[in-house]
Amino acid sequence: MKKIIIAIDGFSSTGKSTLAKQLAKELGYVYVDTGAMYRAVTYFAMQNHWVFEEYLDKEQVVQNLNKVQLRFQFNDALGFAEMYLNGENVEKEIRTLEVSQKVSRIAEISEVRAKLVQQQQEMGQDKGIVMDGRDIGTVVFPEAELKIFMTASAETRAERRYKELLEKGQTVTYEEVLENVEQRDYIDTHREDSPLVQAEDAVVIDNSDLTREEQFAKVMELVKQKI
Ligand code: C5P
Repeated sequence: MKKIIIAIDGFSSTGKSTLAKQLAKELGYVYVDTGAMYRAVTYFAMQNHWVFEEYLDKEQVVQNLNKVQLRFQFNDALGFAEMYLNGENVEKEIRTLEVSQKVSRIAEISEVRAKLVQQQQEMGQDKGIVMDGRDIGTVVFPEAELKIFMTASAETRAERRYKELLEKGQTVTYEEVLENVEQRDYIDTHREDSPLVQAEDAVVIDNSDLTREEQFAKVMELVKQKI
């Protein structure tokens, strides 16, 4: 069977990672969550007080990028890889609303994007990979064999994200989460470097009214046509 690259892009909280994990498991592929990489750089900047509230010291972030070492390590018990920042597991730290509120501004920095895109391209050298993000089908792997673009209404996405955060024990309101989803959509689609756009050859999946199973079955049909 032919090994391919599956690129999954789309708005935040559209269930990209759920779908990507299901596909990777089914196909025995590597799953890479590129959002985790942008989140880890953001967490690093937060720890150093280069980003807080409206303030962002872009120069410091850029100058210290060589001190950011990112690595994914597979967790057998969970069945997927976790993000390590300079040797420390930061999965929990990078999934907070606070990081979500700052990450899109860090992701606007071209030097950050260049560094992460290069790492992502290296990870896909041998194919057999499912990667999700915002620019995978357009910038990281424009030659990917299968490109999926996921979308759903902002309210549906905020509702899902809100439930997830509550389950993780975080104290947030639905309004805060909705505001964050809308704000990230805006920044991600309007930034100069690699804005979130649908690749011309991407298949659009609107999952507002699809169950996980229906969505998975639909995408597996597309995969089978390519392998
Ligand atoms: O996928 P996730 O929601 O975790 O991504 C967090 C943020 O990282 C996005 O809102 C976006 O600003 C940024 N991102 C990006 N390019 C990617 C992946 C994520 O700009 N490939």
